[in-house]
Amino acid sequence: MIRLTDKEFNDIVAYIKGNYGINLTNKRQLIESRMQSVLLGKGMNNFSDYFNLIKQNKSDEITAMLNKLTTNHTYFYREPAHFNFLKNTILPMQEKTNARRDIRIWSAGCSSGEEAYTAIMTMMDYFGLKRAGWDFRILATDISLKAMEAAKHGLYGTESLKDIPKAWEQRYFNKQGENLFELKDEVRNQVLFKRLNLMEPFSFRQPFDLIFCRNVMIYFDQPTKNALINKFYDVLKPGGYLFIGHSETVQRDTSKFLYVEPSVYQKGSVSICR
Ligand SMILES: C[S@@+](CC[C@H](N)C(=O)[O-])C[C@H]1O[C@@H](n2cnc3c(N)ncnc32)[C@H](O)[C@@H]1O
Repeated sequence: MIRLTDKEFNDIVAYIKGNYGINLTNKRQLIESRMQSVLLGKGMNNFSDYFNLIKQNKSDEITAMLNKLTTNHTYFYREPAHFNFLKNTILPMQEKTNARRDIRIWSAGCSSGEEAYTAIMTMMDYFGLKRAGWDFRILATDISLKAMEAAKHGLYGTESLKDIPKAWEQRYFNKQGENLFELKDEVRNQVLFKRLNLMEPFSFRQPFDLIFCRNVMIYFDQPTKNALINKFYDVLKPGGYLFIGHSETVQRDTSKFLYVEPSVYQKGSVSICR
């Protein structure tokens, strides 16, 4: 087994946290065990050589490493309470108040796309025949190009569809053999995938009505989460919503978000005195 020296370990922890927010402080054994095959495959016998390679060839090699150390696991209709909230609260409100008939959503940390596509299906299902008058598009971003390549192909196994309503499986997918489903173009074409590191400054032309950032901040330490949540606040419209994972929280004393229900937060529509 190739071991990390203390210096190598401290260097890589600082580099990954500084650039990607991901906190690997307690993951020494995980790094050693999961990276063995990668180092051996490159004919390397120490971590310093590998880290030098990473620093030269940032985006490809680093995301391959982050893929090994974090999880891209996701599936359609994960944490359905959010899609019910979208259908039962946000969309009826948009219908009443949004004269422009456009809804902007961001899936931040989208992995292989199931979250963004589920939101599109929820909206297609809600609007039905009235859909033609509406412009709803989703920006889906991640640091993992590999996960987003899979998302763009739109091919999924049965495991990813296990929680999806049966009617949606028939309506929005073409079955391609026993265990493979192809997402229909009418859903696929509504999502724009882009590589975006959440640690970098945001620059968007228009603010969002809704941001999903679910099961992403689990890798970040508290100050990193607080800073990111404040950045999300700044790019939401007044009255816009933030959905986080059900195991995650927004600290009320460091954020301006209003608590709505577990894992759902709202940017107040009037400025709030604190
Ligand atoms: C477990 S997946 C979450 C997928 C989906 N949001 C869900 O809840 O099922 C976490 C994703 O966060 C991404 N991620 C981690 N750190 C990131 C960063 N600094 N910038 C952008 N994406 C990041 C990972 O690449 C991974 O695809």
